Amino acid sequence: MGLFKSIKNALQTIKGYLEARNARKKAEELWRNANSHNYTKATADYRWIAEVGNHTYGTIDVYHYGNPSERLQIGHFCSIAAGVTFLTGGNHPLNTLSQYPFDAYFKTGVPHSTPTKGPIVVEDDVWIGMGATILSGAHIGQGAVIAAQSTVAKDVPPYAIYAGNKVVKYRFPEKYIEKLIKFDYSKLTPEDIIKNRDILGKEIDDSFFESEFYKSHLKD
Ligand SMILES: CC(C)(COP(=O)(O)OP(=O)(O)OC[C@H]1O[C@@H](n2cnc3c(N)ncnc32)[C@H](O)[C@@H]1OP(=O)(O)O)[C@@H](O)C(=O)NCCC(=O)NCCS
Repeated sequence: MGLFKSIKNALQTIKGYLEARNARKKAEELWRNANSHNYTKATADYRWIAEVGNHTYGTIDVYHYGNPSERLQIGHFCSIAAGVTFLTGGNHPLNTLSQYPFDAYFKTGVPHSTPTKGPIVVEDDVWIGMGATILSGAHIGQGAVIAAQSTVAKDVPPYAIYAGNKVVKYRFPEKYIEKLIKFDYSKLTPEDIIKNRDILGKEIDDSFFESEFYKSHLKD
Protein backbone atom coordinates (compact mmCIF):
# COMPACT_ATOMS: atom_id res chain seq x y z
CA MET A 1 0.00 0.00 0.00
CA GLY A 2 1.36 3.42 -0.95
CA LEU A 3 2.18 6.02 1.67
CA PHE A 4 -0.63 8.32 0.50
CA LYS A 5 -3.22 5.52 0.82
CA SER A 6 -1.95 4.56 4.29
CA ILE A 7 -2.23 8.16 5.49
CA LYS A 8 -5.73 8.45 3.95
CA ASN A 9 -6.85 5.23 5.68
CA ALA A 10 -5.41 6.37 9.02
CA LEU A 11 -7.18 9.74 8.75
CA GLN A 12 -10.47 8.04 7.85
CA THR A 13 -10.13 5.74 10.88
CA ILE A 14 -9.46 8.69 13.19
CA LYS A 15 -12.38 10.65 11.69
CA GLY A 16 -14.72 7.65 12.09
CA TYR A 17 -13.57 7.11 15.66
CA LEU A 18 -14.06 10.78 16.59
CA GLU A 19 -17.51 10.93 14.96
CA ALA A 20 -18.63 7.76 16.77
CA ARG A 21 -17.21 9.07 20.07
CA ASN A 22 -18.94 12.44 19.69
CA ALA A 23 -22.27 10.80 18.81
CA ARG A 24 -21.96 8.55 21.88
CA LYS A 25 -21.05 11.49 24.12
CA LYS A 26 -24.00 13.51 22.79
CA ALA A 27 -26.41 10.60 23.41
CA GLU A 28 -25.01 10.11 26.93
CA GLU A 29 -25.42 13.81 27.63
CA LEU A 30 -29.05 13.89 26.39
CA TRP A 31 -29.86 10.85 28.52
CA ARG A 32 -28.14 12.27 31.62
CA ASN A 33 -29.90 15.63 31.27
CA ALA A 34 -33.26 13.89 31.20
CA ASN A 35 -32.29 11.57 34.07
CA SER A 36 -30.82 13.86 36.68
CA HIS A 37 -33.19 12.18 39.20
CA ASN A 38 -31.25 8.89 38.90
CA TYR A 39 -27.69 7.64 38.35
CA THR A 40 -28.17 5.62 35.17
CA LYS A 41 -26.03 5.67 32.06
CA ALA A 42 -27.37 4.60 28.70
CA THR A 43 -25.66 2.95 25.75
CA ALA A 44 -27.67 5.25 23.42
CA ASP A 45 -30.30 7.95 23.73
CA TYR A 46 -33.34 5.92 24.82
CA ARG A 47 -35.46 8.83 26.04
CA TRP A 48 -38.18 8.01 23.48
CA ILE A 49 -38.65 4.41 24.66
CA ALA A 50 -37.44 4.22 28.28
CA GLU A 51 -38.39 5.87 31.53
CA VAL A 52 -36.43 5.37 34.77
CA GLY A 53 -37.39 6.39 38.30
CA ASN A 54 -35.58 8.15 41.11
CA HIS A 55 -32.13 7.04 42.32
CA THR A 56 -31.95 3.91 40.14
CA TYR A 57 -28.41 3.18 38.98
CA GLY A 58 -26.65 1.10 36.32
CA THR A 59 -26.39 1.00 32.57
CA ILE A 60 -29.53 0.90 30.45
CA ASP A 61 -29.00 -1.12 27.27
CA VAL A 62 -32.11 -1.52 25.12
CA TYR A 63 -32.53 -3.52 21.92
CA HIS A 64 -35.59 -2.18 20.08
CA TYR A 65 -37.14 -3.07 16.74
CA GLY A 66 -39.54 -0.31 15.75
CA ASN A 67 -42.81 -1.76 16.98
CA PRO A 68 -44.80 1.16 18.47
CA SER A 69 -45.83 -0.93 21.49
CA GLU A 70 -42.23 -1.34 22.64
CA ARG A 71 -41.59 0.39 25.96
CA LEU A 72 -39.36 0.09 29.03
CA GLN A 73 -40.39 1.39 32.43
CA ILE A 74 -38.04 1.07 35.40
CA GLY A 75 -38.96 2.15 38.90
CA HIS A 76 -37.26 3.94 41.79
CA PHE A 77 -34.20 2.67 43.70
CA CYS A 78 -33.42 -0.19 41.30
CA SER A 79 -29.93 -1.68 40.93
CA ILE A 80 -28.94 -2.70 37.42
CA ALA A 81 -25.68 -4.63 37.09
CA ALA A 82 -23.33 -4.55 34.12
CA GLY A 83 -24.33 -6.39 30.97
CA VAL A 84 -28.09 -6.34 31.58
CA THR A 85 -30.03 -6.28 28.31
CA PHE A 86 -33.61 -5.17 27.78
CA LEU A 87 -35.15 -6.59 24.59
CA THR A 88 -38.35 -4.62 24.03
CA GLY A 89 -39.42 -6.62 20.96
CA GLY A 90 -37.65 -8.25 18.07
CA ASN A 91 -39.66 -11.42 17.81
CA HIS A 92 -40.07 -12.84 14.29
CA PRO A 93 -43.43 -14.09 12.99
CA LEU A 94 -43.64 -17.80 13.84
CA ASN A 95 -46.56 -18.84 11.63
CA THR A 96 -45.28 -17.86 8.15
CA LEU A 97 -43.27 -20.21 5.85
CA SER A 98 -39.98 -18.52 6.69
CA GLN A 99 -38.92 -16.36 9.59
CA TYR A 100 -36.51 -14.42 7.38
CA PRO A 101 -37.16 -10.65 6.96
CA PHE A 102 -37.33 -10.77 3.13
CA ASP A 103 -38.32 -7.14 2.72
CA ALA A 104 -35.32 -5.83 4.62
CA TYR A 105 -32.81 -7.46 2.28
CA PHE A 106 -34.68 -8.04 -1.02
CA LYS A 107 -37.03 -5.00 -1.02
CA THR A 108 -39.81 -7.36 -2.06
CA GLY A 109 -42.65 -5.81 -0.09
CA VAL A 110 -43.18 -9.15 1.69
CA PRO A 111 -44.76 -8.06 4.96
CA HIS A 112 -42.62 -8.81 8.01
CA SER A 113 -43.94 -7.97 11.43
CA THR A 114 -41.71 -7.53 14.48
CA PRO A 115 -43.99 -8.72 17.27
CA THR A 116 -43.45 -7.59 20.82
CA LYS A 117 -45.08 -9.10 23.88
CA GLY A 118 -45.64 -5.60 25.27
CA PRO A 119 -43.87 -3.16 27.54
CA ILE A 120 -41.23 -4.25 30.04
CA VAL A 121 -42.05 -3.07 33.55
CA VAL A 122 -39.54 -3.17 36.40
CA GLU A 123 -41.07 -2.02 39.67
CA ASP A 124 -39.26 -0.27 42.54
CA ASP A 125 -36.26 -1.68 44.44
CA VAL A 126 -35.51 -4.47 41.95
CA TRP A 127 -31.94 -5.79 41.70
CA ILE A 128 -31.05 -7.18 38.27
CA GLY A 129 -27.84 -9.25 38.34
CA MET A 130 -25.02 -9.21 35.85
CA GLY A 131 -25.76 -10.23 32.30
CA ALA A 132 -29.49 -10.86 32.75
CA THR A 133 -31.76 -10.56 29.71
CA ILE A 134 -35.22 -9.09 30.15
CA LEU A 135 -37.62 -9.82 27.28
CA SER A 136 -40.67 -7.87 26.10
CA GLY A 137 -43.77 -8.36 28.22
CA ALA A 138 -41.78 -9.09 31.39
CA HIS A 139 -43.12 -7.52 34.58
CA ILE A 140 -40.77 -7.67 37.55
CA GLY A 141 -42.44 -6.98 40.87
CA GLN A 142 -41.20 -4.66 43.62
CA GLY A 143 -38.19 -5.88 45.57
CA ALA A 144 -37.48 -8.88 43.32
CA VAL A 145 -33.97 -10.20 42.62
CA ILE A 146 -32.99 -11.38 39.14
CA ALA A 147 -29.93 -13.62 39.45
CA ALA A 148 -26.91 -13.16 37.20
CA GLN A 149 -27.39 -14.41 33.61
CA SER A 150 -31.11 -15.11 34.06
CA THR A 151 -33.65 -14.67 31.28
CA VAL A 152 -37.00 -13.14 32.23
CA ALA A 153 -39.86 -13.59 29.78
CA LYS A 154 -42.93 -13.22 32.01
CA ASP A 155 -43.96 -12.04 35.45
CA VAL A 156 -41.75 -12.17 38.50
CA PRO A 157 -43.71 -11.70 41.75
CA PRO A 158 -42.68 -9.05 44.29
CA TYR A 159 -39.77 -10.01 46.55
CA ALA A 160 -39.09 -13.23 44.58
CA ILE A 161 -35.57 -14.47 43.88
CA TYR A 162 -35.59 -15.52 40.23
CA ALA A 163 -32.64 -17.52 38.91
CA GLY A 164 -32.20 -18.97 35.44
CA ASN A 165 -35.79 -19.02 34.16
CA LYS A 166 -37.82 -19.47 37.34
CA VAL A 167 -38.54 -18.27 40.86
CA VAL A 168 -36.32 -20.25 43.23
CA LYS A 169 -37.44 -18.69 46.52
CA TYR A 170 -38.61 -15.48 48.19
CA ARG A 171 -36.62 -12.94 50.14
CA PHE A 172 -39.11 -12.88 53.04
CA PRO A 173 -42.02 -14.91 54.46
CA GLU A 174 -45.42 -14.13 52.94
CA LYS A 175 -46.60 -12.20 56.04
CA TYR A 176 -43.75 -9.70 55.49
CA ILE A 177 -44.17 -9.48 51.71
CA GLU A 178 -47.84 -8.54 52.12
CA LYS A 179 -46.68 -5.54 54.15
CA LEU A 180 -43.54 -4.73 52.18
CA ILE A 181 -45.43 -4.27 48.91
CA LYS A 182 -47.28 -1.42 50.60
CA PHE A 183 -44.02 0.48 51.07
CA ASP A 184 -43.90 3.43 48.68
CA TYR A 185 -40.43 4.08 47.29
CA SER A 186 -41.60 7.26 45.58
CA LYS A 187 -41.91 8.76 49.10
CA LEU A 188 -38.36 7.87 50.13
CA THR A 189 -36.27 11.05 50.12
CA PRO A 190 -32.51 11.54 50.57
CA GLU A 191 -33.30 13.15 53.97
CA ASP A 192 -35.27 10.04 55.03
CA ILE A 193 -32.34 7.86 54.03
CA ILE A 194 -29.88 9.78 56.20
CA LYS A 195 -32.30 10.03 59.12
CA ASN A 196 -33.25 6.33 59.00
CA ARG A 197 -29.90 4.78 58.15
CA ASP A 198 -30.05 2.37 61.11
CA ILE A 199 -33.42 0.98 60.04
CA LEU A 200 -32.41 0.76 56.37
CA GLY A 201 -29.34 -1.35 57.15
CA LYS A 202 -31.07 -3.70 59.59
CA GLU A 203 -32.49 -7.17 58.89
CA ILE A 204 -36.29 -7.00 58.67
CA ASP A 205 -38.26 -8.32 61.65
CA ASP A 206 -41.72 -7.62 63.11
CA SER A 207 -40.53 -4.38 64.72
CA PHE A 208 -39.90 -2.80 61.29
CA PHE A 209 -43.64 -2.74 60.57
CA GLU A 210 -44.28 -0.94 63.87
CA SER A 211 -41.79 1.81 63.05
CA GLU A 212 -42.81 5.35 62.24
CA PHE A 213 -40.57 5.13 59.19
CA TYR A 214 -42.61 2.24 57.68
CA LYS A 215 -45.94 3.76 58.64
CA SER A 216 -45.12 7.14 57.11
CA HIS A 217 -44.04 5.64 53.77
CA LEU A 218 -47.11 3.62 52.84
CA LYS A 219 -48.72 3.79 49.41
CA ASP A 220 -51.85 5.98 49.29
C1 LIG B 1 -29.38 -14.96 43.25
C2 LIG B 1 -28.16 -14.63 44.10
C3 LIG B 1 -28.31 -13.24 44.67
C4 LIG B 1 -28.04 -15.64 45.24
O1 LIG B 1 -29.09 -15.55 46.16
P1 LIG B 1 -29.18 -16.61 47.34
O2 LIG B 1 -30.41 -16.33 48.14
O3 LIG B 1 -27.89 -16.64 48.09
O4 LIG B 1 -29.46 -17.94 46.52
P2 LIG B 1 -28.72 -19.35 46.54
O5 LIG B 1 -27.27 -19.17 46.26
O6 LIG B 1 -29.13 -20.04 47.79
O7 LIG B 1 -29.37 -20.04 45.27
C5 LIG B 1 -30.68 -20.52 45.23
C6 LIG B 1 -30.80 -21.42 44.02
O8 LIG B 1 -30.65 -20.63 42.84
C7 LIG B 1 -29.55 -21.09 42.04
N1 LIG B 1 -28.90 -19.91 41.48
C8 LIG B 1 -28.33 -18.89 42.15
N2 LIG B 1 -27.86 -17.97 41.29
C9 LIG B 1 -28.14 -18.44 40.05
C10 LIG B 1 -27.91 -17.95 38.76
N3 LIG B 1 -27.31 -16.77 38.55
N4 LIG B 1 -28.34 -18.67 37.69
C11 LIG B 1 -28.96 -19.86 37.89
N5 LIG B 1 -29.22 -20.38 39.11
C12 LIG B 1 -28.79 -19.68 40.17
C13 LIG B 1 -28.68 -21.84 43.03
O9 LIG B 1 -27.88 -22.78 42.37
C14 LIG B 1 -29.69 -22.47 43.93
O10 LIG B 1 -30.26 -23.58 43.27
P3 LIG B 1 -30.76 -24.91 44.10
O11 LIG B 1 -31.87 -24.41 45.00
O12 LIG B 1 -31.22 -25.82 43.02
O13 LIG B 1 -29.56 -25.38 44.86
C15 LIG B 1 -26.83 -14.75 43.32
O14 LIG B 1 -26.65 -16.10 42.89
C16 LIG B 1 -26.74 -13.85 42.10
O15 LIG B 1 -27.09 -14.20 40.97
N6 LIG B 1 -26.23 -12.63 42.35
C17 LIG B 1 -26.06 -11.64 41.31
C18 LIG B 1 -24.68 -11.00 41.48
C19 LIG B 1 -24.47 -9.91 40.49
O16 LIG B 1 -24.85 -10.04 39.34
N7 LIG B 1 -23.83 -8.85 40.93
C20 LIG B 1 -23.53 -7.76 40.04
C21 LIG B 1 -23.12 -6.54 40.81
S1 LIG B 1 -24.55 -5.65 41.38
